[in-house]
Amino acid sequence: MANIILLGPPGAGKGTQAKRLVEQRGMVQLSTGDMLREAKTSGTDMGRRVAEVMARGELVTDDIVIGLIGERLGQGGGGFIFDGFPRTLKQADALGALLADRGLALDAVIEMQVDDAALISRISGRFTCAKCGEVYHDATRPTKVAGICDVCGSTEFVRRADDNAEALKTRLMEYYRKTSPLIGYYYARHALSVIDGLAEVDIVAGAIAAVLDKP
Ligand code: AP5
Repeated sequence: MANIILLGPPGAGKGTQAKRLVEQRGMVQLSTGDMLREAKTSGTDMGRRVAEVMARGELVTDDIVIGLIGERLGQGGGGFIFDGFPRTLKQADALGALLADRGLALDAVIEMQVDDAALISRISGRFTCAKCGEVYHDATRPTKVAGICDVCGSTEFVRRADDNAEALKTRLMEYYRKTSPLIGYYYARHALSVIDGLAEVDIVAGAIAAVLDKP
């Protein structure tokens, strides 16, 4: 099964599409953002430091996230969706080495293009089910019944600490300065596919499926 990277700025829809691929194709989502949010609740010093960095919208150090991905890849399997990783050239090199060590290949890097104005409105309207993690949006994807998760029926929802205007400005800056060079990095390796992330969720899903199913 293919191993892919979903590459795009905050709010591009990486998490939304990764969850669909998990449901529809049985792929494995590896989101460093989710892993770090779990680490934050561990009560350790590392967890507290990570929480502060994430709340400001800055990137966590390369060694921490490379370690998290290395651990997860060490558990075996395939059909990985790298969501929010890699985010720097150092992380991209490390991912290449980790995959090669395990005899795995990277099959596609899908860049999801979305303009900044749409990102701001997507991020400011986002909320997530506290129990199953399903992602919603106040305007574009509300729950079918107000206050009840469509997937698991939970009535508890959360909004992320870094989904505010100040942190988002930093997150976008971090993306353009440190992550966008990966577009050229993967283009040069003939691995990059570019899709329109501004389209509706189903259309974006179709574009990703077309990349994955390309003979
Ligand atoms: P992370 O959790 O990875 O966040 P992010 O990259 O900022 O991306 P988001 O989760 O905000 O957006 P998304 O693209 O998944 O969009 P979503 O599908 O939710 O990282 C958070 C932090 O952790 C970082 O700032 C950093 O501190 C740290 N970190 C993580 N990884 C790291 C790494 N590798 N190195 C260093 N630090 C790291 O969609 C957003 C909203 O839009 C939702 O409401 C959704 O319903 C809606 N939406 C989605 N698609 C569409 C569509 N097509 N049309 C309309 N609305 C849509």
